[in-house]
Amino acid sequence: MNDSRTLAIEYARQNKDRFLKELMEWIAIPSISTSIEHKDDIQRAAEWAARQLKNLGMENVQVMPTGGHPVVYGEWLGAGKSAPTILIYGHYDVQPADPLELWDNPPFEPVQRGEYLYGRGTSDMKGQVMASLKAVESIIRSGTLPVNIKWLIEGEEEVGSEHLGDFIQSHKELLACDFSLNPDSGMTSPTQPTITYALRGLMYAEIRVYGPKRDLHSGLFGGTIHNPAQALAELIAGMHDENGRITLPGFYDKVRPLSPEERADLARLPINEQTFLQQTGAPALWGEPEYLPIERVGARPTLEVNGLLSGFTGEGSKTVLPAWAMAKISCRLVPDQTPEETFRQLVAYLEANAPSTIRWEIRNLHNASPAITDRDNMGIRALTQAMQTVWGTPPLFKREGGSIGAVVFIQKGLGAESVLTGFGLPDDNVHSPNEKLHLPTWEKGIEALIHFFYNLKP
Ligand code: BES
Ligand code: MN
Repeated sequence: MNDSRTLAIEYARQNKDRFLKELMEWIAIPSISTSIEHKDDIQRAAEWAARQLKNLGMENVQVMPTGGHPVVYGEWLGAGKSAPTILIYGHYDVQPADPLELWDNPPFEPVQRGEYLYGRGTSDMKGQVMASLKAVESIIRSGTLPVNIKWLIEGEEEVGSEHLGDFIQSHKELLACDFSLNPDSGMTSPTQPTITYALRGLMYAEIRVYGPKRDLHSGLFGGTIHNPAQALAELIAGMHDENGRITLPGFYDKVRPLSPEERADLARLPINEQTFLQQTGAPALWGEPEYLPIERVGARPTLEVNGLLSGFTGEGSKTVLPAWAMAKISCRLVPDQTPEETFRQLVAYLEANAPSTIRWEIRNLHNASPAITDRDNMGIRALTQAMQTVWGTPPLFKREGGSIGAVVFIQKGLGAESVLTGFGLPDDNVHSPNEKLHLPTWEKGIEALIHFFYNLKP
C-alpha cells in the first residue's frame, strides 16, 4: 500500500537520526524558565522553535511577547473550512537541572546511551514537541496535511503559565480551534499507550519563619528561644493528621468525589502498589488508605514539602540556633478546588496555629487549575485508533497527578477541549537528574501522531 499515510511513516523512519540530531540541538539550549539568568536562552529556544515551524512551511510564524516569556505561534490553514483545526500545545521551557553533581552527563549536553537520550527537557517536553513537529514534517514532505493546524508553544509552563491565560484571552481569534492536542502528559509503559483525561492543579507557596534577629549560640540561648526551624517543622507536621489527611480548614470542601463507575475503571488499570514501589524505590507507600495509589495521585489532593532550609547544613557541626527557616510548600489540587482558595486556607492555618514566639511570612509563587477533559470526541477517537494501529492495543484512559495550566486556559478562553497524551515514560526522571527519553517509544509516538492527523481527515 503506497498511500500518503504509508509514505509519511516511511519518511519518519528514514529521517529518525536527523530528527534526533535536531532534538539534541534544542536540548542544548538551557531554557530554564524559573531563573532570570536564562532569559537569553529562553529567547533562543523560542526562536529555535520558530525556525522549525518556518522550515516546515508554517505561515504567520511569530515569537510573540507576553507579560513573561514569549509564546511561539505558527499555523497552516490550507486544509480549508471543511477540515478541523487543531491547536498543538507545547512548552519549550524546562525545569532547573540541579543537583548537577547527580547527572552522568551535563544536562544541556545531551547524549545517547543505549535506547535513551539523556538531557534536561528530553522527555518534558522538548522531545514531545519534536515528535509533533516531526509527525507534521513527515506528512508535509510526503503528501498534504489533511487538517489545519496552529501551534502554541509557551515558555512558562514549568513556572505555572502565569501569562498564558491573558495571552489566550487576547488572541482568541488567532487561536480559535476545534480542539487542542497536548502531548505534555505521558505513557504508562512502553507497551501501554495512554490518554490522560484529568490533571491535578497546583498552589505553590513559600513560608518563612523568623525568630531572633541573628543566628544564636545554641548553648547560650537554647531553651529560652523557640528555634525557627523547630517552629516551622511543628507547623508543617500539623498540616497532616495521623491518617494522611490535610488539616487546612475547609481543604476538602470542594473536592469532587469519584463516581463508583470511575473508581471501577481506575481499579482496572494495570497500575498497583507494586508499580509505585518499583518506580520510586521507596521502602513503603504512604497516603490515604481508603484510596488506591492511582486514585491518590490522580483524583485526591495533596500537600507536599518541596524544600526546607534553615541553619547550618554544611559539613561537620556548628552549634547554632538559626534566626530563620524557610519551606517551599505546594498542594496538588483536584476539581473543584482552586489555587486561590487553597492559598487562603494555608494562610488561615498559619494564622490559627503559628505560635507568638515567631514571626512568619508567606508568598504564593504560582498556581495552576485542576482540569478534567472530555473522554470522547473526534480527537480522542482519532488518537485511540492511531495508538491501536501503532502499539496493537488501545490506549489506557487515566488521570495524571501533574499539572498543565494551559488546559483550563484553553477550555475557558477558547472553549476547546485538550487531547492529553505524550510519549514519555514514568521512569524518565522528569524534573530529576538524568532525565531521559526512550527513543523507540518516541519514534512510535511520531508514527502515532502521523496516523492521528490522517485519522482526522474529513
Ligand atoms: N509535563 C508535566 C506535567 C505532567 C507530568 C503531566 C506527568 C502528566 C504527567 C509538566 O511539564 C509539569 O511538570 N508541570 C508542572 C507545572 C507546575 C509547575 C505548575 C508540574 O506539574 O509540576
Ligand atoms: Mn514538567
